[in-house]
Amino acid sequence: MGHPSATVLLCQLGLSTAIQWLGLTESGSGVSWNESQHCRLLVPEQLQLCRRNLEVMPSIVRAARHTQALCQQSFADMRWNCSSIRRAPRFGPDLLKGTREAAFVYALAAATIAHGIARACASGELPLCSCGPGPPGDPGPGGRWGGCGDNLSYGLQLGAAFADSSSRSGKLGTHGRKAMNLHNSAVGRTVLSDSLDTKCKCHGVSGSCSVKTCWKGLSSLDEIASDLKSKYLAAIKVSHRLVGPRKQLIAKDMDARPVTETDLVYLINSPDYCTPNLQLGSLGTQDRQCNKSSVGSASCALLCCGRGYNTYTEEVEERCHCRYRWCCSVVCRSCRRRVERHVCK
Ligand SMILES: *[C@@H]1O[C@H](CO)[C@@H](O)[C@H](O)[C@H]1NC(C)=O
Ligand SMILES: *[C@@H]1O[C@H](CO)[C@@H](O)[C@H](O)[C@H]1NC(C)=O
Ligand SMILES: *[C@@H]1O[C@H](CO)[C@@H](O)[C@H](O)[C@H]1NC(C)=O
Ligand SMILES: *[C@@H]1O[C@H](CO)[C@@H](O)[C@H](O)[C@H]1NC(C)=O
Repeated sequence: MGHPSATVLLCQLGLSTAIQWLGLTESGSGVSWNESQHCRLLVPEQLQLCRRNLEVMPSIVRAARHTQALCQQSFADMRWNCSSIRRAPRFGPDLLKGTREAAFVYALAAATIAHGIARACASGELPLCSCGPGPPGDPGPGGRWGGCGDNLSYGLQLGAAFADSSSRSGKLGTHGRKAMNLHNSAVGRTVLSDSLDTKCKCHGVSGSCSVKTCWKGLSSLDEIASDLKSKYLAAIKVSHRLVGPRKQLIAKDMDARPVTETDLVYLINSPDYCTPNLQLGSLGTQDRQCNKSSVGSASCALLCCGRGYNTYTEEVEERCHCRYRWCCSVVCRSCRRRVERHVCK
């Protein structure tokens, strides 16, 4: 039965985190999931789920890969650009501590895993779930339920079991951090649930849309990630405090609005990520490319933290003079163009 010793070792070294599974990208995305090879990247509670649900593991590996890519894409123009997520399963302090960045990653990971399982049910990939008919009632004029809807409830259930298992029962991290992680994962799933919407496809005489087939579908992960990025920017700093008989996450600033189930929360302030500091998980922004005409987070002023930037020109090769050739291809020439690049000092 597997190699539990490897997992135990990881725990003893204090390297375990509830999002360690994001490191599953490197291994085992192939068709056959090798229990002894791959389950052991997981913390003990996930190991159980992995062994009992081997068929769902390819969806989880895909979710890990999507989470990494979406995070980097969402933060490409920020000082903290999520490149550290590539270190999974060995994260740095930016994601191991109760930071705003960790809040985003936990929420995104939870949403992505549930999304992946819900989709896998709909596509018939998983033996234990299926797509159901639409809800009772009429989907709208000219429409009828059909197709195959995303199985949100199954995705939420199994996704939460997997993503939250170690925060719920493990010995990882402080109580405050566990509460924070669970809250932020739940926010990710709420954003995902709220995105479930009726989608329809038209049939009938050319473009008339006289007959529609409708199903319940989830938003794309790009939309979910962009929603969560807004929540990251508006995240609330909290502390884990006794309120009556129970400890709860309470907004630290008296003036802040109360925490709701759609707010991301964090426990400690992040560094400004301007200069390298390994203790704080900051890589700094030296040599990052900035945008001279932008006024937002990618602007040279903000990205370079006032240190200024160097400008150089580069020749890029592009497709140009493209022509459509009958039938059916586009033929292009290749042109060289000089572009100015700005790089933080
Ligand atoms: C799983 O991986 C182990 C170690 O590489 C190997 O010995 C075993 O044959 C593999 N099992 C399957 C079913 O592929
Ligand atoms: C989801 O899968 C479960 C388990 O197979 C099934 O009972 C349920 O009807 C499915 N629901 C939807 C909405 O597809
Ligand atoms: C992200 O930032 C790091 C540290 O500044 C840098 O090394 C890396 O190239 C950046 N990644 C991207 C995709 O811009
Ligand atoms: C730079 O910012 C401007 C203004 O926001 C935008 O139109 C442009 O596409 C950006 N350039 C790059 C290379 O991202």
